[in-house]
Amino acid sequence: MVIRKVEDDKREFMDLLLIGDESVDMIERYIEPGSLHVGSMDNKDVAVIVVVENNDDSVEIKNLAVDAAFRRRGIGRKMLEYVEKLYPDKRVILGTGETPSTLRFYRSCGYRYFHRIPNFFTDNYPNPIVEEEVTLRDMVYLYKDSPKNDTEEHF
Ligand SMILES: CC(C)(COP(=O)(O)OP(=O)(O)OC[C@H]1O[C@@H](n2cnc3c(N)ncnc32)[C@H](O)[C@@H]1OP(=O)(O)O)[C@@H](O)C(=O)NCCC(=O)NCCS
Repeated sequence: MVIRKVEDDKREFMDLLLIGDESVDMIERYIEPGSLHVGSMDNKDVAVIVVVENNDDSVEIKNLAVDAAFRRRGIGRKMLEYVEKLYPDKRVILGTGETPSTLRFYRSCGYRYFHRIPNFFTDNYPNPIVEEEVTLRDMVYLYKDSPKNDTEEHF
């Protein structure tokens, strides 16, 4: 798999971006301030990740998606590891809905519960989002510290 940063024509990847976030309006808010990285296999674009640098010691993943036909092959994990390596001194944070498989994915990649924004999905999206029989309501924030700063494992 090859991962590249895309600077121009970011909207060409809207189909993949819409897998990670179903709202074009939301995507439009972060696509320009954010950096877009695209993963491809055999010259086919199969994954996207969008990262925004915050004004503190963290970066935020705004969108992560893998083409449904290419899941469970370690691509999502590789996209996260790529961003973690790009910002080795930063905490990586991300907000997500409480879809069970998504939470399992992030947990298996080393992400932990940080905090939640109550009613984020019900307040900001026009229609209810139902995934795996769960209606998304709160945005749950997860985080992973760089190995340098993550002392928890040593105790
Ligand atoms: C979430 C997503 C990015 C995961 O991508 P992926 O390439 O399939 O994930 P990986 O293959 O790297 O999975 C790594 C591990 O996470 C866990 N995992 C991933 N998908 C899972 C699922 N559906 N159910 C349970 N565990 C899962 C597993 O432990 C997996 O390891 P394993 O396959 O060896 O068991 C992908 O399913 C996706 O694009 N979903 C739709 C968009 C989305 O929900 N994005 C995240 C919120 S923005």
